[in-house]
Amino acid sequence: MAAEDEMKSRVLVIGGTGHIGKHIVAASVRLGHSTAVLIRDSALADPAKAQLLKKFVDSGAALLKGDLFDHKNLVKAIKWADVVISAVGPRQITEQTRIIAAMKVAGNVKRFLPSEFGSDVDRVHTVDPMASLYAVKANLRRLIEAEGIPHTYVCCNGFAETYLPSIGDVTAIGAGPPESKITVLGDGNAKAVFVVEEDIAAYTTRAVDDARTLNKILYMRPPANVVSHNELISMWEKKAGRILQRVHIPEEDVLKWIKAEAVFPLDILLSIALSIFVRGDQTNFNVDPDQMHEAKNGLSTDVPGLVTSP
Ligand SMILES: NC(=O)c1ccc[n+]([C@@H]2O[C@H](COP(=O)([O-])OP(=O)(O)OC[C@H]3O[C@@H](n4cnc5c(N)ncnc54)[C@H](OP(=O)(O)O)[C@@H]3O)[C@@H](O)[C@H]2O)c1
Repeated sequence: MAAEDEMKSRVLVIGGTGHIGKHIVAASVRLGHSTAVLIRDSALADPAKAQLLKKFVDSGAALLKGDLFDHKNLVKAIKWADVVISAVGPRQITEQTRIIAAMKVAGNVKRFLPSEFGSDVDRVHTVDPMASLYAVKANLRRLIEAEGIPHTYVCCNGFAETYLPSIGDVTAIGAGPPESKITVLGDGNAKAVFVVEEDIAAYTTRAVDDARTLNKILYMRPPANVVSHNELISMWEKKAGRILQRVHIPEEDVLKWIKAEAVFPLDILLSIALSIFVRGDQTNFNVDPDQMHEAKNGLSTDVPGLVTSP
C-alpha cells in the first residue's frame, strides 16, 4: 500500500447496495480508501444484489454482516472504520439514530456522513408529505450536533438518473422522455441542480478526508449543472429535434393537487418538485464559507473520470 493510501480514512458504507450507495462504494475503492460495506442477510439471498456484492468484493471492498437493528454487529463494523457514510433509503432515515448510538459506543469515528443526498433540509420550503421527511433529516442533524459527532452533510441536489430521463417532469418519472407535452410546475424559471450519481459519489468520497468539509454542509452546485426546467426542456428539444408543448401548472394548483388528488408516490414527487422547481430552494441562497463548502472548485478537479451533467 502506498504511503498516501495509508493516510486515507477507512470508510464504512451503510446502505451500500442502494441506488446511491453502490456508487459510493465504487468511488471509495477507486479513490484508494479501505472500504467495507454493511450487508444484511436479505441482500445475500437476493440474486441481483449478490451479483453487486461479488462486484464489491472483486474490486477490493470488504463485506461486513450487519443491520441497523443489530446493535452488536453495527458497533463491530463501526469500530473497523474511521468514517461512516450512511446511504440508507428514505424509509430508514429515522433509524439512523441507531448508527449514532453505535458510534457513541464505538468511540472511534472521525466523521459521519448521514443519508442526506438531496436539497439542504434546513432551507427547503414545501408541504407534506415531503416536508415531514425533510424534518426528520433536519432533526437527525440536530442530534448529530448535540452529540458532538464530527460530520459532513452532503447536499448533492437532484440525482440525474431520477430527474433527467423524464426531462424534469416529475409527473412522468419512469415513463421516459415526453413525446409531445411536458408538465412544468410554476413558470419553469427557478434554477435547479442535477448531478450524475458517479459524480455525487466522487464528491462525497473526496469530502471524507477534506478538512474544508468538516462539520459543514457540502453543496454540489457545479455551474454547468445548474439549470432551470425551461432551459432543461430547451436542451432536450435541441437534442431530440422536436418542440414539446409546455403545460404550466401555477403554484396554487400544484398545492391543491398535492393536497386533494395526488396519491403515493406522486404526492411525494410533487412536494419535492414544489421546493425545487417552483420555489428554487436548491439555488436561492449563497454559500457561507464558515458553515458550508461548495464543491464547485477544488474537489471536483482532481477526481479521475469526473462526468458532468446534464
Ligand atoms: N437527490 C435525489 O434526487 C434523491 C433521489 C432518491 C433518494 N435520495 C436520497 O438518497 C438517500 C439514499 O436513498 P436511495 O434511494 O439511494 O436508497 P435505496 O436505493 O432505497 O437503498 C437503501 C439502502 O439501505 C439499506 N437498508 C435498508 N434497511 C436497512 C437496515 N435495516 N439496515 C441496514 N441497511 C438497510 C438497503 O440495503 P438492502 O440491500 O439490504 O435492502 C439499501 O442498501 C436517501 O437519503 C434519499 O432520501 C435522493
